[in-house]
Amino acid sequence: MKTLENFRLIREDFPLLDRKFNEEEKLIYLDHAATTQKPKQVLKKINDYYLNYNANVHRGAHQLSAKATEKFENARLSIKNYIKANSTKEIIFTRNATEAINIAARSWGEKNLKENDEILLSIMEHHSNIVPWQLVAERNKCKVKFTKITNDGTLDIEDFKNKLNKKTKIVSLVHISNTLGCCNPIKKIAQLSKKNGSLVLVDACQSLAHTEVDVKDLNIDFLAGSGHKLCGPTGIGFLWAKEEILNKMPPLFGGGEMIQDVFEEKSTWADLPHKFEAGTPAIAEAIGLSEALNYISILGLNNIQKYEKKLTEYLFEQLHSIKDLNIIGPNPYQDSNRASLASFFIKNIHSNDIAEILDSKGICIRSGNHCCQPLHKYLNINSTARVSMNFTTTKEDIDIFIEKLEETINFLRINS
Ligand code: ALA
Repeated sequence: MKTLENFRLIREDFPLLDRKFNEEEKLIYLDHAATTQKPKQVLKKINDYYLNYNANVHRGAHQLSAKATEKFENARLSIKNYIKANSTKEIIFTRNATEAINIAARSWGEKNLKENDEILLSIMEHHSNIVPWQLVAERNKCKVKFTKITNDGTLDIEDFKNKLNKKTKIVSLVHISNTLGCCNPIKKIAQLSKKNGSLVLVDACQSLAHTEVDVKDLNIDFLAGSGHKLCGPTGIGFLWAKEEILNKMPPLFGGGEMIQDVFEEKSTWADLPHKFEAGTPAIAEAIGLSEALNYISILGLNNIQKYEKKLTEYLFEQLHSIKDLNIIGPNPYQDSNRASLASFFIKNIHSNDIAEILDSKGICIRSGNHCCQPLHKYLNINSTARVSMNFTTTKEDIDIFIEKLEETINFLRINS
């Protein structure tokens, strides 16, 4: 049976993770926050679609199309169940979470935001939850404001309360930060926002593979998710929004699939969710994502969370033992829901040098600003190195990473 304690069986599903980097050493992949590896089960489902029932969806009268449509719509149902939404009408397939946020910002934002209205974000947001709002703010002459973070690297709730006011029409916030790792108190944020009359969008890219997300319990209005961070393929993500909100939003992309009737002078729209899905969708990718959700659900998000918490504590202990290494974001004892990642910097050593040398030793981590330039500017640091884990990571991976990180730092210190 596959359990998190039985790594041999789990790692067998991810052959890439046991690839050799050279003749003797294993490649260590610690960049799961950028993208997760895909289990064989997901690849098999994608292959199965192309080999056995490749056809377009919602169109053909033939049996292949009927089967492809059934599997594609079942994938929508898997997402609906995964985030505990009310209906599949609320799940819009997108290319990625960025596209999901752009649909909300353009379609809902352009229609509803008026001059001087405010959009409240946080300084820890990924560029994908900043730029779409800046674009709509410019068009509709409204303002984008940013909640600060505390010295511990968590959302500053007092600052949030101070910035939330009658002009705030929407709050758009990351659930788990891809850089700080903190888990934001979305339920509390939603409660304050609702009392104020503001809608809430949650960027759940980093949380969906690590913790249970229930959109009704959170009492939010929009949620953006990404397939490739959930052990699914790239090229597929989704926007969830309450049905009554989606009903009032105009479509953003026009073309086939999203219409009911097309006349020379005008067109009418298909029902939800198709109104927002113009053109042939990413069929194989949706089917792959559905299998990825199934894979994660069998392991159990509660088990994953418990396992990753232990790994994170161990990683922090090891990183803290390295002289002059500073981790940004809360430690796992301060925020028990924090992500299993650590972004760190060392004075006088560039994070790109750390990542490049580690790469030459077979360790994959990310360096730079992780698409969070405003956060790095706010913290007054150029860049950080980020190690990010998931349920496939082992203590042995961390030990090898730490050993090679220490070698790298010593080398850079001697040669700087
Ligand atoms: N958002 C992804 C990351 O954090 C790409 O690396």
